[in-house]
Amino acid sequence: MLTLSGVGKRYPTGDRALSDIELSLPKGQVLALIGPSGAGKSTLIRCVNRLVEPSEGRIALEGCELTRLSGAKLRQARRAMGMIFQEYALVDRLSVMENVLSGQLGYVGFWRSFLRRYPAPAVAEAFRLLERVGLSHAIDKRADALSGGQRQRVGIARALLQNPRLLLVDEPTASLDPKTSRQIMRLIRELCAERELAAIINIHDVALAQQFADRIVGLRAGRIVFDGKPQALTAEILTTIYGEEEWDTRVADEADETPTTTPASLTLGVAT
Ligand SMILES: Nc1ncnc2c1ncn2[C@@H]1O[C@H](COP(=O)(O)OP(=O)(O)OP(=O)(O)O)[C@@H](O)[C@H]1O
Ligand SMILES: [Mg+2]
Repeated sequence: MLTLSGVGKRYPTGDRALSDIELSLPKGQVLALIGPSGAGKSTLIRCVNRLVEPSEGRIALEGCELTRLSGAKLRQARRAMGMIFQEYALVDRLSVMENVLSGQLGYVGFWRSFLRRYPAPAVAEAFRLLERVGLSHAIDKRADALSGGQRQRVGIARALLQNPRLLLVDEPTASLDPKTSRQIMRLIRELCAERELAAIINIHDVALAQQFADRIVGLRAGRIVFDGKPQALTAEILTTIYGEEEWDTRVADEADETPTTTPASLTLGVAT
């Protein structure tokens, strides 16, 4: 449903962030994008919804070439893509409900949303979504009164309100504790299954990526260096992606055990 062919990005500063990206994402697939800081993960996600303009290559969503669109057509295409950010991007002084409804901006027009008049079906759907993400008790709370995990749930509900077919998720768990991180990843995973949504999730936590994604793509210096199933990610491949690091001994040392052998999923302590 999403295809990137020959996509590259060079920023005006001269930094080359992506080179020759070939990626095809089928409907309903949850893809985790991993790689060291600066590898180009955020750039790739932003090229897809054209928050960043790719320097070369083509990106097509359900047969529609995004890289050729502009103006109203681009805005319309963007509605098929829900964005979820690490920093939650909520308006602090607005309520949970209003934050979710603000995801409708593209639909209801600037003035209606400025006056906070939303169509009844959107409000009903926002209620349903808030219930689904476990926030029905907090609908009237101000966004700044929420915990990090709750804020992320609001971000998820808001992204889903526009009924997207693709989710673009940039480090959803970066500032959450390990348990909340798992809950958020599980929620995203379940919602993708329920709604047949495809997702690209940038994530630093390799164990979480392995546990919750169907497929893992490893980026290094703007190039894809691994594309495969979570089980196929060995310590050797992690070294290719992240550079030299003694994955086995390092993780085992922390656990105060004698080093075990690959696969990395075991040494990284992932429940399989
Ligand atoms: N707006 C920008 N202008 C110039 N260079 C940029 C810009 N955004 C990113 N870059 C550069 O592009 C490269 C890729 O950055 P990007 O933010 O995509 O990496 P990332 O994999 O998301 O990293 P992180 O894990 O730290 O979020 C880096 O070298 C970065 O310095
Ligand atoms: Mg990033």
